[in-house]
Amino acid sequence: MREYNIAVLKGDGIGPEIVEEAIRVLDRAGEKFGFRLRYHYALLGGCAIDETGVPLPQETVDACKAADSTLLGAVGGPKWDGVPGDRRPEKGLLGIRGALGLFANLRPAVIFPELREASPLRPEIIGSGLDILVVRELTGGIYFGERGRRTVEGAEAAYDTEQYTVPEIERIARVAFQMARKRQKRVCSVDKANVLESSRLWRSVVARIGEEEFPDVALSHMYVDNCAMQLVRNPGQFDVIVTSNIFGDILSDEASMISGSIGMLASASLGAGKAGLYEPIHGSAPDIAGTGRANPLATILSAAMMLRYSLEEPEAAAAIEAAVSQALKTARTADIWTEGTRQVSCKEMGALVCEAL
Ligand code: IPM
Ligand code: MG
Repeated sequence: MREYNIAVLKGDGIGPEIVEEAIRVLDRAGEKFGFRLRYHYALLGGCAIDETGVPLPQETVDACKAADSTLLGAVGGPKWDGVPGDRRPEKGLLGIRGALGLFANLRPAVIFPELREASPLRPEIIGSGLDILVVRELTGGIYFGERGRRTVEGAEAAYDTEQYTVPEIERIARVAFQMARKRQKRVCSVDKANVLESSRLWRSVVARIGEEEFPDVALSHMYVDNCAMQLVRNPGQFDVIVTSNIFGDILSDEASMISGSIGMLASASLGAGKAGLYEPIHGSAPDIAGTGRANPLATILSAAMMLRYSLEEPEAAAAIEAAVSQALKTARTADIWTEGTRQVSCKEMGALVCEAL
């Protein structure tokens, strides 16, 4: 029997509840498709701070490095708002992305036909559907650049630095072009080249990689402010969007919302090897933690992405995605509930997906 070792980082807030449902679904998929998963639990974020004093203990890095892949819930919460910036739960998340070299973050924004009415966009704008893949650079840019405090003309000041090297841009561009080849062969590179020097370099490197290595993929460039607008004006124009760490952070939240609910969207973070880190793009939602109101589907869909990209179990991945569609036909968690469907808890939604599998 095929066996996979999965590092599991439940994290904070609703993290443990949603991860539990994803694991149930993964186990069910394993039964059905003939593989077994072994889970290795480790701490990340606020729970790690509470237990060990730091958001990313070395044992967690080791556990993720030793595993075939990592599944993550979410980190952070008001409890740790007071801790200094360099030891916040979010720092643990950035740390694990960096430590594992996960430079490519794939954030698909799709509308499940069942959820069309949950999108805040009018039906004529959504048209026949929506299928965007945001490819976000994840280990560079302003998130990892030099930052600090200093005095400027006698006043206290703070600064953060946006910097990209040519190899960093080349490798993320290649990921985007490769993904586009499996889709509609269109890449839109998003930057702020009318203002930022780092964006001007970004644009020229992406253009060169496109020309030299991917002449079969259509490349366009767009300023980030325009892209934010185009996403709500005519989202159907996009296939793959490739962009920097911070622009990708912002645009992927926007793309997620037009697809109905941020509670639905999965993500994969990949590096040079096969192992990746899979997490929902939403946060830890401390306000609803423990109430059973969380939507586990983004985490379940992240587990499906893990099966597809890291474990090479594409049939199981597709089956989970189909089971999610099936479950949505009759039942909804609170965030996506509409008249005429049954409102279910996090646990019930997990069970329905398992059943549909
Ligand atoms: C995300 C989150 C994180 C990010 C935060 C929690 C550090 O917003 O994964 O999009 O900005 O990358
Ligand atoms: Mg974000």
